[in-house]
Amino acid sequence: MSEAPRASGAAALAHEASAEHRPVLVIDFGAQYAQLIARRVRECRVYSEIVPHDVPAAEVAARNPVGIILSGGPASIYEPGAPSVDPGLFELGVPVLGICYGMQAMAAALGGDVANTGVGEFGKTPVRLGSDSLLFGDLPSEQTAWMSHRDSVVRPPAGFAGTAASDTTPVAAMEDRVRGLFGVQFHPEVAHTPRGTDILRHFVLDACQAPPTWTALQFIEEQVDLIREQVGDDQVICALSGGVDSAVAALLVHRAVGDQLTCVFVDHGLLRKDEAAQVVEAFDDHFKVPLRHVDASERFLAALAGVTDPEQKRRIIGEQFIRLFEDEARGLGDVRFLVQGTLYSDVIESGSRTAAKIKSHHNVGGLPEDMDFELVEPLRLIFKDEVRRVGTELGLPEGMVWRQPFPGPGLAIRIIGDVTRERLDVLRDADAVLLEEIRRAGLYDKLWQSFAILPAIRSVGVQGDSRTYAYPIVLRAVTSEDAMTADWARLPYDVLERISSRIINEIPGVNRVALDISSKPPATIEWE
Ligand code: XMP
Repeated sequence: MSEAPRASGAAALAHEASAEHRPVLVIDFGAQYAQLIARRVRECRVYSEIVPHDVPAAEVAARNPVGIILSGGPASIYEPGAPSVDPGLFELGVPVLGICYGMQAMAAALGGDVANTGVGEFGKTPVRLGSDSLLFGDLPSEQTAWMSHRDSVVRPPAGFAGTAASDTTPVAAMEDRVRGLFGVQFHPEVAHTPRGTDILRHFVLDACQAPPTWTALQFIEEQVDLIREQVGDDQVICALSGGVDSAVAALLVHRAVGDQLTCVFVDHGLLRKDEAAQVVEAFDDHFKVPLRHVDASERFLAALAGVTDPEQKRRIIGEQFIRLFEDEARGLGDVRFLVQGTLYSDVIESGSRTAAKIKSHHNVGGLPEDMDFELVEPLRLIFKDEVRRVGTELGLPEGMVWRQPFPGPGLAIRIIGDVTRERLDVLRDADAVLLEEIRRAGLYDKLWQSFAILPAIRSVGVQGDSRTYAYPIVLRAVTSEDAMTADWARLPYDVLERISSRIINEIPGVNRVALDISSKPPATIEWE
């Protein structure tokens, strides 16, 4: 039972998952946009994956892509060390679309000219589309597009025609229909380019001729086969958190190997109010999957005592989780596999070679190296919205499918500084009030996340005739599509007022409520 985690196993799964679907590969030049591009392509029901820009053309060819997209990136083409594109990519005989930096890299690689013209474009920009373009099809000529560039293609390579222009950028798009090569200076993947998804759809379905076969049902069937193949006759243990990710992962594995799966729900004492009871009830009622409920709050709190560094909290919680599962597994006999609900966005944020590491999510980066399990991660290649679609297809109740995300390390990373029982109780009660009022106002489903934070400060107040010296609570509510970027939610004043007065009146130890009005970036959604 003691084997290192199979990183190569996960990679092998990635390849197998796409064997039936020739992928559109997104070559990542370091843009936070690469993920969004892949998601948009998948919305066209075509499988898409992200690969680092330094992967050689031969390796890209080995993946048998149906098309290639070169993402944007922060560099300037001619600066020393700027990532370049392997010219071999243009010889693979599959269509290539370059976006922003990707278009410039394509132009430079094929003999065109890119220059800093002294006039960049940032934000929503009017562009005029040409009428003879495969990429733009019959879209109306006047469009708004999201631009973010200083450099521009000033002379397209031989064989290319300019297909769009803005006031300051004569070559805002270009294409070589014969070779199936396309470039757009703007970002079709962002919502600020209203017809951007149509443009990507034209590339994927018309230029690449990819069949739109990537659906939740297909995914389920393929994963069930893959899980059976990976697990064989061995025993599997699954960490259930109550969130949609681990629930969907568990159901997929249960569908694949039935009773070989044992689900364990670890209550680390860092959950929201009544959450443990709800999880146990939901699993008994809805899934009929046997569930072991382990109350490990003492153990987690002891390990966290005195720890204030966020990354250390994550590491400790990740490690405790695994040790606990190892103990549980030992009690169950010979368990070889551990199911985790790791998502593609966790994988990218924790390990991409090009994007800066932001936080080590405990279910990926925080795993101890000497772990005793091999991992089964059936969601490793899909995004949150896809997980929800798969969950619905599997028959998960709506309430679980649409539950707002909750981080694995739980309230520990919403309590700044020391995590103690007393502070947990304060935060848990405040969070419950906030969620109750958000639900009552019909806002729960409209928000990506809404929760309370407990900072490590106290402030002076007055209650009755007495001076208080107590904690503030910070309210955090954000809208987001994928947690990579987020905007603070404009909650109605009357809802804020109710939340504030209830928290201050009902929760001893709190005398002030503040509202976080930061977007991501530059802030993150969680405070730690
Ligand atoms: P940030 O704070 O990085 O969060 O903007 C992005 C999304 O990830 C969740 N999150 C985590 N989830 N383990 C998790 O399972 C973690 O350590 C962790 N940190 C953040 C966060 O709630 C948000 O949805």
